[in-house]
Amino acid sequence: MSNGFYYRDERLFCDAVDLNELAGTTNGPFYVYSKFELGQNLNSIKAAAQGFNFIPCYAVKANYNPQLLKIIASSGFGADVVSAGELYFAQKAGFPNEKIVFAGVGKTAAELELAISSGIHSLNIESAAELELAGQIAQRLQRRVNIALRINPDIRVDTHEYITTALHSNKFGIPVEEALLYYRKLKSHPWLNPAGVHVHIGSQITDVQPFRKAADELNHFVAELESMGIGLDFIDLGGGIGINYQHRFDAPNTDAQHLHEILSSYLNTLQPKGKAVLAELGRAIIGNTGLLISRVLYKKQTPVKNFTIVDAGMNNLIRPSLYRAWHEIVPLVKRSGPKMMSDIVGPVCESGDYFAKDRETEMLESGDFIAIGGAGAYGQSLSSHYNLRPRLAEFLIDGNQIIPIARELSIRELAAQYEW
Ligand code: LLP
Repeated sequence: MSNGFYYRDERLFCDAVDLNELAGTTNGPFYVYSKFELGQNLNSIKAAAQGFNFIPCYAVKANYNPQLLKIIASSGFGADVVSAGELYFAQKAGFPNEKIVFAGVGKTAAELELAISSGIHSLNIESAAELELAGQIAQRLQRRVNIALRINPDIRVDTHEYITTALHSNKFGIPVEEALLYYRKLKSHPWLNPAGVHVHIGSQITDVQPFRKAADELNHFVAELESMGIGLDFIDLGGGIGINYQHRFDAPNTDAQHLHEILSSYLNTLQPKGKAVLAELGRAIIGNTGLLISRVLYKKQTPVKNFTIVDAGMNNLIRPSLYRAWHEIVPLVKRSGPKMMSDIVGPVCESGDYFAKDRETEMLESGDFIAIGGAGAYGQSLSSHYNLRPRLAEFLIDGNQIIPIARELSIRELAAQYEW
């Protein structure tokens, strides 16, 4: 078996668990993750980096479930965090401080202080103003901290405009020429150690070319710094390696192989020459490990459309609504016979609340369960209580074991946090 999710006798399994049976024991939609798929991805990253002095980090924003974090931490990965909250989860899940990088364009003074006093691996700095503040805080704390300026190489990538990051029209990073000036200034700084450089060119990038281009930019940049007498200790490649969201339950899963190819190519184009290399991968680690399971409530026809209304909504998985993202949708039990075409939509009071438009699926009937694929990354972590809907339960499947890893966060619990 090379897939964590696969059909056996027309029934969708995760490892050895029949998902329809699991769904029958639950109330409402839920997330389910395959430990097997997660292991494949983690191994693939380690294998691609053999021979390099590599610190693979996991971008906690993609999915912060503590049990998933613990598996990733215990595989030797570090963490990429972007808030005090993510730093707290990463530390509590067991990521060692010396393998934690802190990124983000708007860190507060309190967050910078927390990061510096924790002795994390490095701070990724995104502006002159942030650099100044980090310097003041490090001085006050009398703690020297590793800095990596995030350079913005103005590279165009083929992904949704909301998840491009390396264009000068994006808020991220510092243009290359400007960054060189800051490194020159930092050369003799007592508290800020300009030890690294950081780049992150966007997300859900499935083509190797933009990564090669980023590697070339980094090589030039590092050479420029060396000519100024500044030698770096590490290069942080960022994240962004994409996954295949399409048609994957009946075919062998090639994500781990694809991940291996892109990462090897990125690393081999880079010439780290003994420097440590970091990467901050989110989706490539966790994206294909998760499904959102939902039940069909109603079928409805208007004069021009068929709708399949399900019990999960955009508050649970916002990617289709926000990025027009395409997620595979399959029944947990396949019916033979004619297929159907419909918009698969949630119960939320927004026309943008949909999972698929004009999608052909197996015939679905009220009460059937469906799986929405590729939901491991930016699914639960981007969810909300909109329309006062609960946050969903999560299960991890390990062989034939079903491990509850988050219970539903109910509206009663939410209500208890308000003044009434
Ligand atoms: N490093 C930095 C600095 C980032 O901003 C991000 C993602 C990552 C690493 C991890 O990127 P990944 O390897 O997962 O592509 N919500 C969007 C994705 C937003 C990504 C934000 N930054 C989505 O659902 O497609």
